Amino acid sequence: MPALSQRITTLNGDGSDGWDVFYRARAMLDAGEDVTELTIGEHDIRTDPSILRAMHDSAMGGHTGYAIVPGVSALRDKVAARVQAQSGVPTTRDNVLVTPGGQAALFAAHMAVCSQGDAALIVDPYYATYPGTLRAAGAVPRAVPTRSAHGFLPQREALEAACDGAASLLINTPNNPTGAVYPRETLEMIADVVRNQDMWLISDEVYDVQVWDGTHLSPRAIPGMAERTLVIGSMSKSHAMTGSRIGWIVGPEAAIEALIDLATNTTYGVPGYIQDAAVFGLQSGLDLEAEVAAPFRRRREIAARVLAEQSAVRAIPAQGAMYVMLDVRATGLSGEAFANALLETHRIAVMPGESFGQSAAGHVRVAMTVEDARFEAALRQLCGFASGLAKAA
Ligand SMILES: Cc1ncc(COP(=O)(O)O)c(C=O)c1O
Repeated sequence: MPALSQRITTLNGDGSDGWDVFYRARAMLDAGEDVTELTIGEHDIRTDPSILRAMHDSAMGGHTGYAIVPGVSALRDKVAARVQAQSGVPTTRDNVLVTPGGQAALFAAHMAVCSQGDAALIVDPYYATYPGTLRAAGAVPRAVPTRSAHGFLPQREALEAACDGAASLLINTPNNPTGAVYPRETLEMIADVVRNQDMWLISDEVYDVQVWDGTHLSPRAIPGMAERTLVIGSMSKSHAMTGSRIGWIVGPEAAIEALIDLATNTTYGVPGYIQDAAVFGLQSGLDLEAEVAAPFRRRREIAARVLAEQSAVRAIPAQGAMYVMLDVRATGLSGEAFANALLETHRIAVMPGESFGQSAAGHVRVAMTVEDARFEAALRQLCGFASGLAKAA
């Protein structure tokens, strides 16, 4: 076979994509072993039947041809209205491009604002695909370190130290993997740095409705930011539609126009029946979204209760999203060694913090994605395991 491109063979940087524990757990499950899977951000409920019916009716009604590339007007209008209601920023369909999921939106957004070889900032710890997505777009990821002791919120000094010559900063609130919801002061500091450096801000808000503590604030709402912010949205998390691959980018009209050119030459749009189902989902109102989020809200309470009963594991308070980040450094193990040992001895799979960057070394991320009793039992086992290790350390 001829050589593959340098771009694709270097996507994972150091060669590891951070998903080893996940793949091992999946292999064990395939081999018939009983593994409690707390790795990826996938709901344990399925897409609501009413949304599936809307999808079915649309497909049966003939909406199976090419859909218009920017997205059907009804969906662009719904997204614009939703974003305007959340942020107070006037938003129309011309500010919206519909994409096949948030992941494709992240890629397209970086294609739009980073030239080949430009540095693109990400806040460490980060969602595991970020570095590869940026590299795929020709950018060079540069991590802004944060500290567990600061709740993994970015600090001005670290951001300013990293931003020389960077074209963009990617933030994510509510955050995967840390569960942090950025407060207004943090977002205003970020906005100030981004404006001073004349950078783009890419704001990944796919968990915007999964907030347990505090409120979600979109940085696009901060004065002077709408013209330099691209918001990434998705129905994967809010409507349990991960498999439907439906998301969007919201930004300045001129940027959306350029992104439509990119979409014309790459994805050529999103299936019309998926878009019609998304319109139905968005007009179903917030009750449906609250229902989808409810299990995570409950399990976050369970986690808080279980973790308060012990001291071997320190929890970073989960204010949003579907994860709890645990500091396991008292065990003397790295996050990776802890996750591997936990899988080996207790058949519980969690993500090593190191999968999300060096700032999360010595931590593990637990996805709250199995039913309550099983979740509680697994967390108790994890704490017991950590406590045994901590005593021996
Ligand atoms: C922070 C973050 N951004 C983006 C995505 C991508 O979501 P999707 O492509 O399913 O919309 C995910 C998925 O887990 C995520 O956690």
